[in-house]
Amino acid sequence: MSLHGLLSVTIGVPNVEETAAYYAEFGLAPAGDGWLATRDAGKQLRILPAPTRRLLELRVGADDPDDLARAAAGLARLGISPELRGTSLAATEPVTGVRAILDVAPRASQDTVPATPYNGPGRLDRQGHRAPGLVRTDRVRPRKLGHAVLGSTDHQATMAFFTDGLGFKISDRIKGVGAFLRCSTDHHNVLVLGAPVSFLHHTSWQVDDVDDVGRGACAMLEGRPERHVWGLGRHYAGSNFFWYLKDPAGNFSEYYSDMDCIIDDQLWTPEDLEGARGLFSWGPPPPPSFLHPEDLAAMMTGAHSAG
Ligand SMILES: [Fe+2]
Repeated sequence: MSLHGLLSVTIGVPNVEETAAYYAEFGLAPAGDGWLATRDAGKQLRILPAPTRRLLELRVGADDPDDLARAAAGLARLGISPELRGTSLAATEPVTGVRAILDVAPRASQDTVPATPYNGPGRLDRQGHRAPGLVRTDRVRPRKLGHAVLGSTDHQATMAFFTDGLGFKISDRIKGVGAFLRCSTDHHNVLVLGAPVSFLHHTSWQVDDVDDVGRGACAMLEGRPERHVWGLGRHYAGSNFFWYLKDPAGNFSEYYSDMDCIIDDQLWTPEDLEGARGLFSWGPPPPPSFLHPEDLAAMMTGAHSAG
């Protein structure tokens, strides 16, 4: 069969408590042992201590042991020896040091959330009452983990690990810079970007609709405007609405909704995106710190002194 989903990510940060409190406020539920849970998919974020912020591990769901055998053979062709234990395969991506784990696990399914009614010309789907996004009083709580974005000093090698090794598929490419990769029907679950230092750019979390992207971000910004990074906008790759915020360790966290979905590989044509299209379709211009986070230089110095 195949890979079917991004199950969880483990991030390392120097300030575990403060960062965990941020993600609880972001809408994830503390679930013990450093884990936080989404509404639909359970424990999906683990926060562990590390000297500098980084992505330590990501877990991917696979249908059956054949998928692990296929990945083991693919990784071996790249000169990487995975550890295969029962229904789990683990391998370390050599450039970024990220540990990837394929776990044979049941496919997750989400309950259907009814479409939000929006009025349009000649189309009055909502009559006699205010837009639902205005009257919601509950705090936004992400439904599931969508994707993680990795900066890599050798994006070709890191991409090969995920595609030729683990079996991710390419949804779109950013010319000369990286690619959007999927291990599920979502347009992307991992994005690999060329960068001067290997680092975690952001994790992204699904909410119900564009109103919840806005509500979630605005709640996080109340009294904390410095958390704002970039939004509200709509990406071209994946089509999703986005709003990016910054956690206390410097990682970006994104609320998203309305991501492209690829059920039949034959019906999707990957594009080579150039210029602004690789970044977004509309929205405010991305701040320079989105592409080059302010702590990049410090991380490079750290990487050099550690190496
Ligand atoms: Fe994203």
